[in-house]
Amino acid sequence: MKPIYLDHAASTPVRPEVAEVIMKIMSEQFGNASSVHTFGRSAKKTVNGARDSIAASLGCFSDEWIFTGGGTESDNLALFGAAHSRKGGHIITTAIEHHAVLHACRELEKEGYSLTYLPVDRTGRVAPEDLAAALREDTFLISIMLANNEVGTVQPIEEIGRVARERGILFHVDAVQALGSVPISLSDLPVDYMSFTAHKINGPQGIGGLYVRRGAPLHPRLHGGLQERGRRAGTENLAGAAGFAKAVELAVEGQADKHEESLLLRDRLLHGLDRGIGRDAYHINGDIEHGLPNITNISFPGVRSDVMLMNLDMEGIAASSGSACTSGSLEISHVLKAMNLRGDHLSSAIRFSTGLGNTTEEMEHVARKIETIVKRLRNKD
Ligand SMILES: Cc1ncc(COP(=O)(O)O)c(C=O)c1O
Repeated sequence: MKPIYLDHAASTPVRPEVAEVIMKIMSEQFGNASSVHTFGRSAKKTVNGARDSIAASLGCFSDEWIFTGGGTESDNLALFGAAHSRKGGHIITTAIEHHAVLHACRELEKEGYSLTYLPVDRTGRVAPEDLAAALREDTFLISIMLANNEVGTVQPIEEIGRVARERGILFHVDAVQALGSVPISLSDLPVDYMSFTAHKINGPQGIGGLYVRRGAPLHPRLHGGLQERGRRAGTENLAGAAGFAKAVELAVEGQADKHEESLLLRDRLLHGLDRGIGRDAYHINGDIEHGLPNITNISFPGVRSDVMLMNLDMEGIAASSGSACTSGSLEISHVLKAMNLRGDHLSSAIRFSTGLGNTTEEMEHVARKIETIVKRLRNKD
């Protein structure tokens, strides 16, 4: 069997239709979108065409979309951009955000802003009551992710956004993992900033976007040219923008089908595990009812995550033990820790994330391989 890729939450294969668009732009266009000659004008048309297309797919105005270098930059631009538009104040986020948000928040703390990191329950969900209790007179920004990258838990962002609106507080949402899995219509959401990246939706790596609602403050992070209406300096990534737009279009169009397929793939994996090792031999971390079906985080008590990952890799199966930034080290995920999992669940968690190209046969094969690995390792004790 060919290698099986179950790490789509880390990065995804580029769709052929997207690669085709990228190749076409790369081979035909090289002008700088800021130049006034024909080459420049043609480049500008490409970038603005991509912007219009994304705005149409996500339901916002074209001038509300800023191209960035990826999800990390979008998160940083939103947080520092909102914070630096004023002096001091209080920001609320959660303990389970991606490091792109958490580490940016730590920096803002060093600059003198006060931060509250909301706890989550055992499924990884934030309680709106906890948010209400954390609000202060000087709270000016809330940053809460739509879907978690490690366990797939989806947060009640509409409810949170309404609270933010009522209080005149800015609201940033990291939707990097949610795009293509959760319907997003920006003009209907009580959100001021939303972060995206192309490489999680079968687009190219190194390009992302930030939605900034008209009127929301944004102090630029990068200073230089006047690109992106002076909000993000630097020559535009033509091929990346065009490829991203195609990827967004296909992800939005295919979202309902992806949901069904993901449910089926997860079902096959779990049924295979039930048959092979039995339901008591594993534990699902996260919220299977309300989470993304394409991200399934499972603990196999008694088998350490790194040992399981290595054994899976030897069988040609790629999975992960947490976010890509922490995998490769034995550090226990901050997300699972915040969910207060049992010790042996923490140390044995594996993230399986499905996507383009995965089949039900692959999932059955993976379940059989896990059965062999678990039985072999447990017999060793
Ligand atoms: C929820 C979330 N936010 C932000 C990022 C960072 O995105 P990028 O890799 O494009 O910088 C990731 C990537 O793993 C993510 O999962």
